[in-house]
Amino acid sequence: MIAFAAIAIPLTGFSAEKPHQSALLQFDKQIDGIISQMTLEEKVEMLHAKHMFVSAGIERLGIADMIFADGPFGIREEMQPDGWMGLGWENDKATFFPTGSALAATWSPELAYQYGKGMAKEARLRGKDMILGPAINIQRIPTGGRTYEYLSEDPFLSSKLSVQYTKGVQDNGVAVCLKHFALNNQENNRGTVNVIIGERAMREIYLPPFRAAVEEADAYGIMPAYNKVNGWWCAENDILLNKILRDEWGFAGMSISDWGGTHSTVNSVKHGLNVEMPSKQYLGQALIDSVKAGKVSEEIINLRVREILRVRLAIKPIPANEANEEMTSQPAQQKIAYEVACKSIVLLKNDGALPLKLKNKPVIAVIGANATQIMGSGGLGAGVKTLYEVTPLEGLKNRIGDKAEIVYAQGYVPVVFTWGRKSPEQLDKEGREKELKTVELTKEALEVAAKADIILFIGGDNRSVETEGSDRKDIFLPSGQDELIKKIAEVNPNIVTILTSGAPNDLNVVKTASKALLISWFNGTEGGNALADVLVGNISPSGRLPFTLPVKLEDSPAYALGNYPQGKKNADVFAKLVAETEAVEKPKEDALKSKDPNTAYYSEESLVGYRWFDTKNLPVMYPFGYGLTYTTFEYANLKTDKKKYGKNDVITISVELKNTGKVAADEVPQVYVHRINPSVEWPEKELKAFTRVPLNPGESKTITLEIPVKNLQYWNEKRKAWSDDLCNIELQVGVSSGEIILKKEIALR
Ligand code: BGC
Repeated sequence: MIAFAAIAIPLTGFSAEKPHQSALLQFDKQIDGIISQMTLEEKVEMLHAKHMFVSAGIERLGIADMIFADGPFGIREEMQPDGWMGLGWENDKATFFPTGSALAATWSPELAYQYGKGMAKEARLRGKDMILGPAINIQRIPTGGRTYEYLSEDPFLSSKLSVQYTKGVQDNGVAVCLKHFALNNQENNRGTVNVIIGERAMREIYLPPFRAAVEEADAYGIMPAYNKVNGWWCAENDILLNKILRDEWGFAGMSISDWGGTHSTVNSVKHGLNVEMPSKQYLGQALIDSVKAGKVSEEIINLRVREILRVRLAIKPIPANEANEEMTSQPAQQKIAYEVACKSIVLLKNDGALPLKLKNKPVIAVIGANATQIMGSGGLGAGVKTLYEVTPLEGLKNRIGDKAEIVYAQGYVPVVFTWGRKSPEQLDKEGREKELKTVELTKEALEVAAKADIILFIGGDNRSVETEGSDRKDIFLPSGQDELIKKIAEVNPNIVTILTSGAPNDLNVVKTASKALLISWFNGTEGGNALADVLVGNISPSGRLPFTLPVKLEDSPAYALGNYPQGKKNADVFAKLVAETEAVEKPKEDALKSKDPNTAYYSEESLVGYRWFDTKNLPVMYPFGYGLTYTTFEYANLKTDKKKYGKNDVITISVELKNTGKVAADEVPQVYVHRINPSVEWPEKELKAFTRVPLNPGESKTITLEIPVKNLQYWNEKRKAWSDDLCNIELQVGVSSGEIILKKEIALR
């Protein structure tokens, strides 16, 4: 276990290296001229919302407003300037790109670039300057409400993808807004929770995707999160926004608060917030008053305005009369959505049921409400008004409607998100109706199942289950799906299960009941076509899990340690405990903190996801990085270019890879690093390189992967800097964190 530093450590400290030089700095001379002509009022006008998704420019000086759009998986529909209602336009229908966890399951930085490019193209068609995305928080808890939006539990995979997403967007004339900076890893109490975290875990696990997108892709925008980190709201967090983001990483662009996430005037503007969204409570008149009262210098105001102007000058505004002329969703972007969807689907189990055998025109029973559910919207938070979304059932009909007899049964009543609280009477009534409906749907499903040759059970969560603003209570399949599938298996065991979920589910029942099992995510506009292509074998599945699937939720780190969920109920118990104990020992003190609903105590430190399971030697349902194909691969000849490496070297690894099966497929070799004799504690292993390799049957390739020794540093809490741990290392090449195929020892000196 990694040594944990004192809780309220001041998170200062600078890396010795020079920050990256942002291209945005080229505008500074021009900006001097602009700022010198501006009044204080004009400057402050730029530091808060003008409308719900707009911040002001300076019309008098020909500086256009900044126009934002959600993000991160499709351009949000056009809404009232100052409200959340859609305007009901026709041509604002966008492409729904597979959501974050689906993109991450491709393990393809190249596709992340295309994805960003596609998002930018549609943003420009709609006249938007900045996309509110990518969303790159680490998936800390399996139940996290926005797990489907985020990429991975692993910082390396998340970083590689967020860099390319950012480049794809910004190379195509739109700015990104990385969100949510930082440590927004839960939705319950997201607006009040204080994350207590040691600096090493913060630096090594939670910040890398943000850092990489800033340093390697020059991200122009960032969104401070709703929560607090070590006592400070993110939107007024000097350590996060000034010291780390700007001074260390060289971020030169603008930060915009999450919607309603600003909490102060003086601290916000001094500590690095550029724009208060979507209001002007703190950075409007109150800011002018603070300047006049001498609490905020005009230099600070100038600096914050400069940072916005840099982005404004780098992003060419789209004249109002050129925006919204064409339909937002275009074939080129739909094609990208299809490519991502195809490569995201993860095959977890296959007892020979897949690809589907269609020779004798089988009867295929498609059972499950998820077969017809739209995943572009639902629940709270940004949805995509899609031009179209091919559901799994439609995809199957498109691809094999003539080769099989497809019969559909809904099977269960899906969860539907509704606003507001319901009275006990109403809940009771709805409960009874649901029960009756369930009996009817189960009967129908069993009848259909009994007559079918093959059952495709299409279940999982939906956008009402996985939603912004709240976490799931558990990871069980909703709507009684486990019960239903058990009953189906009794009448016909020939079941292939497909889960369209964006986050982990408990698979104990479906795994046993199914001959084959796949995850096909919230997979965008073309999701159904991609799924059908995989099921029938037009494409070999090639997605890999971006997160661990635990045997049970309680095994996962934050749960196992009692750090999550935090709850009021327990607070009283622990308060009593502490009151009764004269000298409160640290563990009890920690436990108390973890039970305060507004304190999220990250005592698992760096042991997030597979780092926890591997280090603690705990069994998992399916490991991080796992995914089957329709072929087989052989790995051989793991070589490195040297045996010993200095701290500035790059470890070059080569491996021979052969497709030994009968169909073409992509393989995703993964390189993990295990420290043999380290000077500090480390997780059992960490992902440090990966690639995606297409191989035809019989084809071999020698692949090379690189790991700069610098990427193996740790955050030294004493020195407050990155340090080398020059030890012996075992390079582990595997097909997942749970299956290492080749190993080689090298030395760092
Ligand atoms: C979300 C952000 C989003 C913003 C604007 C907030 O509730 O947390 O991700 O960009 O709303 O829609």
